[in-house]
Amino acid sequence: MDVEIDVDVEALRALARSLACEAGALVRDGRPERVEVAATKSSDVDPVTDMDRAAEALLRRRLAEERPDDAILGEEGDDVPGTSGLTWVLDPIDGTVNYVYGVASYAVSVAVVAGPPDPGRWTALAGCVHSVVDGRTWTAARGGGAERDGRPLRVRRPDALSRSLVGTGFGYAPERRARQAEVLVDVLPRVRDIRRIGSAAIDLCLLAEGALDLYYERGLNPWDLAAGALVAAEAGAWVGGLHGRGPGAAMTVAGATPVVTELVRLLEDADADRPEDGARG
Ligand code: IPD
Ligand code: CA
Repeated sequence: MDVEIDVDVEALRALARSLACEAGALVRDGRPERVEVAATKSSDVDPVTDMDRAAEALLRRRLAEERPDDAILGEEGDDVPGTSGLTWVLDPIDGTVNYVYGVASYAVSVAVVAGPPDPGRWTALAGCVHSVVDGRTWTAARGGGAERDGRPLRVRRPDALSRSLVGTGFGYAPERRARQAEVLVDVLPRVRDIRRIGSAAIDLCLLAEGALDLYYERGLNPWDLAAGALVAAEAGAWVGGLHGRGPGAAMTVAGATPVVTELVRLLEDADADRPEDGARG
């Protein structure tokens, strides 16, 4: 969706960066030696920790001060309505399983979008993904490019699907994972290798800087991809779904053309966005 938007996207990028880094400091400094799982969400293996909630509360408090007219869509709380037409899309810890286990790939993801809170239909304006453990910070502004810590980003252009390093991820529901494993059987023999890093936001940023050639995943929530997809797109990636749809829960695919088109075809042939019986996430 392309709409005429009269906002300062660079100011929004700066705010997204400062919010993500502030929440990142809380997540980093407040991580206990052993992280307890406070609750589970879509399935027994989909954890929520006290820190997910604390980091999102911080982001919401700061947005209420800085952008009181904007709406909020966050992973760990109720939707906040707004009057400005802009929505902040928040993932306080993307990669919560990694956070729980102390695997270093988890991030705070903050994005601001115009239009409906649906990745296939919104216009992403600015976003930031802040990798908590090592401080890598990726940002993008619509039409203003993507960067990591001041360095402009450009996707890698693989010469063939067979030589492409492909990031992906798996949902939390057993039925979904069983289907994702079937699709992987079709994909794995046709690519260089697969990476399952455990944070969709970081996957999309690694794609943006050329550390992955391609990425696909079924089942992403809006907050998993909002900032990362803009970073990838501003670095030159095509980002979409299957069968001409936009990116979103059914499927998100990203990478440079023309090779990404081969991956889209492969996933379409594998029926990779077919609904599973009883799957939730
Ligand atoms: C998850 C991560 C993971 C992806 C899952 C997401 P969470 O987010 O992004 O890489 O495979 O689909 O749900 O639960 O850690 O915020
Ligand atoms: Ca997430």
